[in-house]
Amino acid sequence: MGKNVPEEIKEEIRKLVEEINYHNYRYYVLDSPVISDEEYDKLFRKLKELEERYEYILPDSPTQRIGAPPLDKFEKVRHREPMLSLDNAFDYEDLEEFDERIKRFLRTEEPIEYTVEPKYDGLAIEITYEKGLLKVASTRGDGYEGEDVTLNVKTIKSVPLKIDLKNIPEDIDIRGEVYMEIEEFERLNKEREISGEPLFANPRNAAAGSVRQLDSSITAKRKLHFVAYGLGFFKGIQFSKHSEFVDWLKAAKFPTPYTFAVVRGAKEVVEAVRELETKRKEFSFEADGAVIKVNDFELQKILGIKTREPRWAIAYKFPAHQGTTKIVDIRASVGRTGVLTPYAIFEPVKIGGVTVSRSTLHNFDEMERKDIRIGDYVIVERAGDVIPHVVSVIKEKRTGNEKKFSVPKVCPECGSNVIREEGEVAVRCVNINCPAQVIERIIHFASRNALNIEGLGEKNVELFYEKGLLKTLTDLFKLKKEDILKLPRFKDKSASNIIEAIERSKKTTLSRLLFGLGILHVGEYVAKLLAKHFEKVEDLYGVDREKILQIKQIGEKIADSVSDFFGRKENILAIEEMKRMGLIIENPDFEGDKKEKKTPLKGLTFVITGRLPEERSKVEELIETLGGHASSSVSKKTDYLVVGEEPGSKLEKARSLGVKTISYEELKRLIDELSGK
Ligand code: IVH
Repeated sequence: MGKNVPEEIKEEIRKLVEEINYHNYRYYVLDSPVISDEEYDKLFRKLKELEERYEYILPDSPTQRIGAPPLDKFEKVRHREPMLSLDNAFDYEDLEEFDERIKRFLRTEEPIEYTVEPKYDGLAIEITYEKGLLKVASTRGDGYEGEDVTLNVKTIKSVPLKIDLKNIPEDIDIRGEVYMEIEEFERLNKEREISGEPLFANPRNAAAGSVRQLDSSITAKRKLHFVAYGLGFFKGIQFSKHSEFVDWLKAAKFPTPYTFAVVRGAKEVVEAVRELETKRKEFSFEADGAVIKVNDFELQKILGIKTREPRWAIAYKFPAHQGTTKIVDIRASVGRTGVLTPYAIFEPVKIGGVTVSRSTLHNFDEMERKDIRIGDYVIVERAGDVIPHVVSVIKEKRTGNEKKFSVPKVCPECGSNVIREEGEVAVRCVNINCPAQVIERIIHFASRNALNIEGLGEKNVELFYEKGLLKTLTDLFKLKKEDILKLPRFKDKSASNIIEAIERSKKTTLSRLLFGLGILHVGEYVAKLLAKHFEKVEDLYGVDREKILQIKQIGEKIADSVSDFFGRKENILAIEEMKRMGLIIENPDFEGDKKEKKTPLKGLTFVITGRLPEERSKVEELIETLGGHASSSVSKKTDYLVVGEEPGSKLEKARSLGVKTISYEELKRLIDELSGK
């Protein structure tokens, strides 16, 4: 690679990689960026351009983080040192006993030095760095063997692709936790709720589900974080203490535990744990406890392992936060798809430092199963699941005045009838113009993974709706700056920003649009599947369920919902109106129906080198659409090397292997010829 690349270009690429990686670190690890998103994007684009043009990609290039084509399955990875689990402590006494055990084992009366750090509630990961470069990332699995999730872990921006230090260890396994911040978890669940996808029970499941995901481009979209806290196999470096290792991690630009204390003796351990517990409120992530470790590695070695847990560490589990309160009312809210969800209003109660005054009751079946009534005293818990939930009713406290809440006959927002379909838990409002639904639909349409209209969040949508500026999705594209300026909250700049964001959103992709339309059961994944099989949105108009069922990953429920949506005239008219107002729908996901489609390049492998008259990615896309395979490296299997201006080292390689070389024009002719034109 890159034999013919001029030294000054190599230098420029190296500098850009370094610069962008630095800004990544500022943003994702230190949480204090020093440049704007636009400046960052500019640097990124410039790097990408140079990399494509010179075919010179450094292994730690930030362009290698975007995800790759889906895998069929994960390969297995053996851990060179087993990944252990931890013994649990449930109160301070257990911690004192832990300290006693250690002193007994070591036959010492001297106070032991410990470290105290949060126990992150995520998914344990091991990352192998060889000569400083990220080689393999794997899940814990059974502790001895896990799954290769390298592609997914590479998409996590705070994971260094290269260890950025003068003295790089020859070989080192860094361990830590991949987790999702609470806010991102809630955002993701909300998105899933409105598209009818199953919800994640807690941030841990959400993180695990995102890492154990065969399509790394989906992982790339979930905002995941990494924290390093452990050492596996290593060679070519020495550490004497855990705290020294953590300092090294920091210097090597790894994210390290949010709080970290080095203390001596049981009393100080308890104090540090207490302090960590009070700080828990400010954590943006879910911590289910504290991990206490013997600091000295030499002592850790002596203490060793008992079956699956080390003697030198313990996890202190926070008690589940529970409280008792009274339900003063039960109401129902209406989501985007019209589903009514019951929720309880409490007499406000402080649980684990947070005032709780309401909680979802999930659905009417659940409410009835737990026999929850207005006026009941209940036990409310905030545990691993950040969102509070009702554990049980204290039936002994009933006075007889409690009132059952029955499933509403009409929508609490618009008064229309509600229906409950056979065998379904959900109760729905049938009026698709119900204000609650419309507002939720617009919020969803504008959200990040749909049309991504920046600045058009919940508050603004509600306001625009109230003021009559937005009644339907299509109204979005009719918004005028003058109208927004009439609203009290807006100044010239903020109004322009929204209008510009809407303008930008008009160029979108079919999968984003399908997701954004909020078709029942169509989440991001299903939207992508549809876009892979249907070239244009028009191909979906009036589509019958059988056609959709041909997509093997899609079942009857989804097929019915999609064909129902595109069988409705009003939906098609709405899409057509958006198109008239400038909506441009591209479809880079389309793979075509390979059997029916013309595939003149079937069975042929192409590699491109040098600059072509057209953007490389476009040419590659063309080759793939026509059934060919566009590869990035020349091998004996390559059929044609397409040579542009200033070709790279691939040309030499092709010549030495006897691979045919053709120009861009010759490629075009070849396509015409093979297509029988
Ligand atoms: S140290 C042998 N430190 O807890 C010690 N683990 O129950 C290995 N965890 O599998 C782990 N935060 O996934 C360590 N600061 C932390 C941790 C932590 C979360 C998880 C980890 C491990 C599990 C053990």
